[in-house]
Amino acid sequence: KRVLVLNGPNLNLLGTREPETYGAGTLADIETLCRAAAADLGLAIEFRQSNHEGELVSWIQEARETADGILINPAAYSHTSLAIHDALRAVALPVAEVHLSNIHQREAFRHHSYVSSVAFGVICGFGPLGYKLALMALAEKLT
Ligand code: DQA
Repeated sequence: KRVLVLNGPNLNLLGTREPETYGAGTLADIETLCRAAAADLGLAIEFRQSNHEGELVSWIQEARETADGILINPAAYSHTSLAIHDALRAVALPVAEVHLSNIHQREAFRHHSYVSSVAFGVICGFGPLGYKLALMALAEKLT
């Protein structure tokens, strides 16, 4: 099965961005972790990051043809984007939502995510491990 792994804005800066909140690892490290987990789980993954809402929307739309499930860390768009919510709803693939940080422990404006209501599960606060856990959940969901 094929999983599209999407990362939203500013996640390209991981490693130098607020390491006390997001850890010292880079997005490339997370990709490496995802590739290892996917290989173990027998999943084929496509790993992408964008700082542009519309690009993420287009990639979600394309997933109708090219993926069986979506893992998404929508980053700040979690808290603002009806367009990403609608795109995920439209493709009707299983969606796992991941956040590195525990968004519920942080500012009130991070407590709500527009993606959570279209995801079958949400993982937050476990750092990069959350991506692996979400891939495990997707693998189970897709078999
Ligand atoms: C994040 C949490 C969001 O609130 C924030 O805007 C991010 C990253 C996380 O992975 O913890 O950019 O999605």
